[in-house]
Formats: sequence, structure tokens, C-alpha cells
Amino acid sequence: MIRSEVIGNWKMNLDHVEGIHLTQQIGVLLRANPHDHVDVVLAPPAIDLRSVSSVVEADRLPLLLAGQHVSEFDRGAYTGEISVSMYKRLGVTSILVGHSERRAFFAMTDEVVAATALTVLRGGLRPVICVGESAEVRSAEQHEEFVAEQVAIATATIGQQNFALAYEPVWAIGTGETASVEQVARMAAVIREALPETARATTPILYGGSVKPENAHELASGGNVNGFLVGGASLVAEQFVEIVSTASDCYGRSR
Ligand code: PGA
Repeated sequence: MIRSEVIGNWKMNLDHVEGIHLTQQIGVLLRANPHDHVDVVLAPPAIDLRSVSSVVEADRLPLLLAGQHVSEFDRGAYTGEISVSMYKRLGVTSILVGHSERRAFFAMTDEVVAATALTVLRGGLRPVICVGESAEVRSAEQHEEFVAEQVAIATATIGQQNFALAYEPVWAIGTGETASVEQVARMAAVIREALPETARATTPILYGGSVKPENAHELASGGNVNGFLVGGASLVAEQFVEIVSTASDCYGRSR
């Protein structure tokens, strides 16, 4: 049985003071809203993590922490980079690898994504490998092959170790345009098929791209995925926790 999860990706928003505030707000709302059937994960900017983790520990909040990006190297002369062991020391358990914004704006190739995922695993953390097609690829009807290839390149390097996949169609990220339930369910099946056979039953597949309180129920119940990677709506405590409790309700029922 795959444990469901909802990850809030704050991207390059909120300094550490704002991050403390949002974490406290989320903590208060989580106490009042059932969320037993999902893990709730925050992925703040790296520089906020120390402060956010202090709040999580001090208030004993039911929150896990994730990194947004990590160096493919273990340590050394890589100015500006952050290593897996640095994240680990702060209590981080997962790291997003190959988010489409890293691929598009920072030239992260499939090969670097695979190498980075391997570094994360070697360091004892779990990579959440992000995949997804652009609007052009979808309109050329190449999206299934494209995403299956992204998955295949990553798994050729990391094998069947402990990782998660996030399907995030680039055209649905931050645009307000959500993939339809049918599109998400179809791609989740394509991704599962592209996984090594031994990893199919155990690897969580998340959906990301304009997930909001209004579409969370539909996507959780019909999308054939194990949770969400939420960007914009994760910056507003009420919206994020509503997505969490909706997902928990849907996943609790489908047991
Ligand atoms: P969005 O971002 O929810 O703002 O579309 C999702 C993501 O990029 O992780």
C-alpha cells in the first residue's frame, strides 16, 4: 500500500520570517482538520529550512520537510550549491529533483536529473523526480513517449530504489490550467508502465500543476495518483490545508 502525500513547494517565495509564520498557520489548521491518510510535506527555500524545522520540532507539528533542489555532487568546491548531507542534518527526508523550472531555467538535463537522484539516494534521502511535457510536445501528441523516456532515463540510473515521481505538465504549472482527470489518470498509467516492474507497486506518483482546493477532490479520487505537488496554493495556509484534508478524505475512502 502506497502512503499518499501532499507536498507544498514554496519555490522562491517567503523569507525565513514569513516561512515561520506560514508554518505556524499551517500547524494550527492541521490540528483542526483531519489528515490521517496523507503525509504533509513542506518544501521551503533552503535558507528557510532551519527556521521552519525549529517550528516543526518545537510545536511538534505533523509535517515532513523536503528540499527543492540539491547539488549532484557530494561536497567540495561548488560555490552556491547545497549538499544532500546538509539537508539531511536539518531533518529533511525528500528532495525534489528535476523540477521543470530547474530543467527550463537552469539547463538541468535528464542525465543530470538521474545523477542527482542517485546522489540523493546515496545520501540516504528520497528523491521526488519531476517529469512532464511542454504544451508543444502535447500538441504534437508525443507526450506519452516523452514522459516515459524521462522516467526511463532516471530509473536506468537509480534502479528500483526508494523514490517518488511527480507528473507536472509544464503547461499546467502556475498557469491556472489544470490537466483533466482523464489526462492525469492516463499519464499515471504510462508512468507506472515505464517503471521497473519491481517498483510499480511501491512507487508513489504525484500530480502537480495548478492544484487548488476546487480541483483536489476530483484529482485525488479519479486521477490514479498518490497525492499532489502544490505550488501557488501551498503559500496560503487555508488553501493548502484544504487540499491536504480533501486528499486525506479521498485516500481514506479508497482503502
Ligand atoms: P503550481 O506549481 O501549483 O503553482 O502550478 C506546481 C509546481 O510547480 O510544483
